[in-house]
Amino acid sequence: MAKKSVFITPSILSCDLAHLQDEVTSIESYADWLQVDVMDGHFVPNLSFGAPVLKHLKTSLPLDVHLMVSNPKERLKEFFAVGAKNITFHAEAVASTADRKDIISHIHKAGATAGIALNPGTPVSAIGDVVDEVDLVLIMSVHPGFSGQKFMPEVLGKVTALRKAHPELMIQMDGGIDSLTAAECKKAGANNLVSASFIFDAQDRKGAIEALRTA
Ligand code: DX5
Repeated sequence: MAKKSVFITPSILSCDLAHLQDEVTSIESYADWLQVDVMDGHFVPNLSFGAPVLKHLKTSLPLDVHLMVSNPKERLKEFFAVGAKNITFHAEAVASTADRKDIISHIHKAGATAGIALNPGTPVSAIGDVVDEVDLVLIMSVHPGFSGQKFMPEVLGKVTALRKAHPELMIQMDGGIDSLTAAECKKAGANNLVSASFIFDAQDRKGAIEALRTA
């Protein structure tokens, strides 16, 4: 799936949502994907936004939807309708293999790629049943729910193990990623880095994205 050495994926969670269009336009020439963090106040202790916010957003960046919700299957359609390129759901939210495969197949049938995410405390073995069917695995490097948290280096071992077993897999990391932690993520084998505050809080957003790319 990944042809570039690393994808840089800004997350709109920490942009100025009152000026979403301008914020996205400010980074779109430099980034590869755009991540939309969907939270339901149940799977994570925070609420964010859903597909209606994206309906009128104009961007050339592929939309990467990170579903931090307890009922991902019921939320897929609204993101198909806004043209999501990738949809990632959490392993912790969907326990059964049959349900996971069903979600992945729905995503593929809609023409998108499918990802599965692991919270910091969830081992890679928890997705052994579907790792060969997904296009992307997201290794969270913070407890999901908020931007601006500190990177958890203890998750890097999961990335190393996953990369060793799956040389072609897109491995995304998300949480506390800056120019220093990005280097650790890449060294472990991640090839898609999500970042919210490091990019959107920067005076020089282009420079911040380039710093992640070259870390
Ligand atoms: C965390 C979200 C992340 C978050 C990252 O729940 O999934 O995408 O926005 O924020 P930073 O990059 O500020 O840690």
